[in-house]
Amino acid sequence: MNQFQHNHTSDLSASLSCNSSISTSDVDVADVVGLEIGSEVQTLVQRLLRREEFQTVIFVASELMKDHPESLFLHFALGTAYSNLGQALETIHHCQRFIDIEGDETIENFKSNKLPSIKNNLGLALKDLGLLERAEEVFTSLLSRENDFVPALINYGNLLNDGARLSEAQTQFVKAIEVNPDNALAYWNLHSLSQDRDTARSILELCLSKDPANELANITLAGLLAFEGNSSHLRQLADNGYRDNPLVRSIEWIMSLPELPQIHFNRWALFDAAVARADRSRPMYEFGVWMGNSFRYLIDSFPAGFGFDTFEGLPENWHGLPPGTYSSFGQVPNILGADFITGEFRDTLPGFFGETRPMAGLINFDADLYSSTMTALTHAAPVIDDRTVLIFDELIVNRNWEQDEFRALREFCEANKLSYEVFAVSLFTKQAACLLRKSAG
Ligand SMILES: C[S@@+](CC[C@H](N)C(=O)[O-])C[C@H]1O[C@@H](n2cnc3c(N)ncnc32)[C@H](O)[C@@H]1O
Repeated sequence: MNQFQHNHTSDLSASLSCNSSISTSDVDVADVVGLEIGSEVQTLVQRLLRREEFQTVIFVASELMKDHPESLFLHFALGTAYSNLGQALETIHHCQRFIDIEGDETIENFKSNKLPSIKNNLGLALKDLGLLERAEEVFTSLLSRENDFVPALINYGNLLNDGARLSEAQTQFVKAIEVNPDNALAYWNLHSLSQDRDTARSILELCLSKDPANELANITLAGLLAFEGNSSHLRQLADNGYRDNPLVRSIEWIMSLPELPQIHFNRWALFDAAVARADRSRPMYEFGVWMGNSFRYLIDSFPAGFGFDTFEGLPENWHGLPPGTYSSFGQVPNILGADFITGEFRDTLPGFFGETRPMAGLINFDADLYSSTMTALTHAAPVIDDRTVLIFDELIVNRNWEQDEFRALREFCEANKLSYEVFAVSLFTKQAACLLRKSAG
């Protein structure tokens, strides 16, 4: 499952992530002899890159860089290694240096060969940091020169999808398929734009015709069939060692709900479904705003919105993601109708909800951590009633999903004698939307 690497809202580390990107197009470093550093050591780094031993590449190349700070080859090697390890800041530094350094003719040849791969990695790293406009500039400049570079087409498609520009995303994925009809990843990402289960099923089938062993596509397809009453594929997967797979666990949880929820394939479709059930005369609330992407979309349907965030990223480590991930670098987004309350939830929420606040039409819980979600739910309880739509952005699918937002929802319901009625889910984007009900008895 190597190609299904990190991306999008979370899980830059170990957990399963569905929105798939191509982190680097190639780790081949051919034809580098003649550059600034010795050929033997170049061959060594080259071999390490090919073997995908990225930590060792960093270990060796960083040392060499002390004596060769302008080495194009070393910036290429480091940019590629950091990109594959999901370390965005370092990737940006080395990819940008690679782009900026000018050299003689031998180097220019190497540089122009590697530029597409470097720009692709730069665009991805900018996207991971939430710098979507800058990432778009990089992808469009790359694609204006290399309009058949499949990794960039797919990654640019994902970027457009993240920005709710679905038909533009579709254009990129379809173009990727046109260039390489065998690219399973392009089909996988394309299925996230489906508006109904039949379309999603047939695109997943195409994906599997290109890559029959594709785990995510196999499980998702088995899930869709199970939702339609045919659980045999899901049972077969469970019996063949996938019982503990987080996506399988998520599908089984959905199947265990009293009523099958609407099944969506992307974040925006789930948001639309949630908004349609919400009382739009009330304000919306969001816990975890980051750059304001989801807030900007949701506020359009409500008279006002309250957003809570430190704007400095996660306060704790989250399954390997260090504190500070999803930082907006202290910048508070400027959004019409928005009232942002800056600070850690545990510091800001007691005072904010200590005053009477309007009942919530919709609340988007997108702070990832169990502790943050629990704090948000507990303090927001006075603005939640049986008409308030709650969205949990990472409820399912992640490797540890039962320990995070899901655990907070479950414990909050237990403590307040409530139950949740889930009416919409999206496997691809891990979300669920629900209403809370008083438990019987
Ligand atoms: C995944 S990002 C939110 C993404 C955003 N909703 C979007 O769609 O672009 C998670 C955010 O939660 C914030 N956060 C997490 N726990 C927090 C806490 N305890 N107090 C304040 N902010 C918190 C982080 O600063 C980060 O901006």
